[in-house]
Amino acid sequence: MENTLEIINQRTEWFREARFGMFIHWGLYSILGKGEWIRSHQKLSIEDYQPYFEAFNPTKYNPRDWAKAAKCAGMKYVVLTAKHHDGFCLFDSAFTEYKSTNTPIGRDLVKEFVEAVREEGLKVGLYFSLIDWYHKDFPKFGDLNHPMRDNSAFKDEVIDFDNYLTFMHNQVEEIVTKYGKLDILWFDYSYEEMFGEKWRATELIKMVRKHQPDVIVDNRLETSGEGFGSIVTDHINLYSGDFVSPEQIVPHEGIRNYKGEFIPWELCLTMNNNWAYNPTDTLYKPSKVLIRKLVECVSKNGNMILNVGPDALGVINEESMSILDDFSSWMNKNSESIYGNGYAELPKPEWGYYTQKGNVIYAHVLEQPIGPLALIGLSEDNIKRMSFVHDGSEVKISKSWTTNAYEGICFAQYGEVPHFTYPLPCSVDSVIKIELRGTDDEN
Ligand code: GLC
Repeated sequence: MENTLEIINQRTEWFREARFGMFIHWGLYSILGKGEWIRSHQKLSIEDYQPYFEAFNPTKYNPRDWAKAAKCAGMKYVVLTAKHHDGFCLFDSAFTEYKSTNTPIGRDLVKEFVEAVREEGLKVGLYFSLIDWYHKDFPKFGDLNHPMRDNSAFKDEVIDFDNYLTFMHNQVEEIVTKYGKLDILWFDYSYEEMFGEKWRATELIKMVRKHQPDVIVDNRLETSGEGFGSIVTDHINLYSGDFVSPEQIVPHEGIRNYKGEFIPWELCLTMNNNWAYNPTDTLYKPSKVLIRKLVECVSKNGNMILNVGPDALGVINEESMSILDDFSSWMNKNSESIYGNGYAELPKPEWGYYTQKGNVIYAHVLEQPIGPLALIGLSEDNIKRMSFVHDGSEVKISKSWTTNAYEGICFAQYGEVPHFTYPLPCSVDSVIKIELRGTDDEN
């Protein structure tokens, strides 16, 4: 078994076609409503946190609603936190009692989730935390993040970390064998000396690939949102993962390896500033910004996975649904400029972004032009036809006295009078489809 960029590109072909997914952070922490790190941030003991285990009863949980919302927004895959750092499992694990089937809801919520996502025709992924703040053999005192990291009662505690790793591997084997074909396995995360073989990562990934040979894996067996890992180097580890996972930042020029070749990557980001439900966090990014971030990611050969944090009852809140509705409106008209698109070998235009799919370039016009639009990098001779994606209306090559001085620059106009300024049809992103002359076109 080996890992090469060629193998990675083969494995991620559907992923790079899909471009857009939904992340779902949901668990006991959704009851507290202060984010998924609340145990660590407030140094809550297992006892402090136990009332939430005993109360967990998401009576409005219906993963079909989640899957429909994702599909409607134009998302092609959905990833759910099967287990986050608190160690609570949304699945019926045989290796712990700390699971949803032992709470008042009494159900295997992952089973229902994967079935619902597949029923909507979407790809399905599970997030799995390498970290487990509930397990007795996970490092506590002096750990970077553990809720008991400063508690001297744990200073001389003797743990059996190998036993923890066996437990962790067993749980991973459960989720890759009990829930059908998984499309994405999203590990999180490595830090300090806790990376790579510290997790027995080679053994782990060999087991995963034995059961799920086509599943794609993120890069966090090696790193976190802070790094890229061996996937960008000349020695790609078996557990490098298949995509880099930049977090809350769009890499300014995408992500390339040491040779300058694009590497699959996926921006993971939140709508507000919390992954899990937090009603006090009202700083939602405008949908216009988020839609433009998706376009930016695709223009740089990347994906975007946008997170929602359902509440303790299992409901995605109104602010998040409103954003998803706006994605739906824009994607319904323009998704051909996203799916299967990637980097166009052109200079980035001042007014927005180019994406490209085969012989078609899409001009994503975010900024209102004065008069015709300069299509820098494109030659009139190469253009067969242009039209707006949203309604198919013609966009012409502009011949105007205002552009005569700029030789060699191709201009597009979308109104009758060449030198007039016409409002862009869409204030979020007006997309012009530019069909290039192919080799089979008559001259
Ligand atoms: C960060 C957060 C973690 C979240 C992950 C998603 O690592 O700390 O809670 O699950 O991002 O990418």
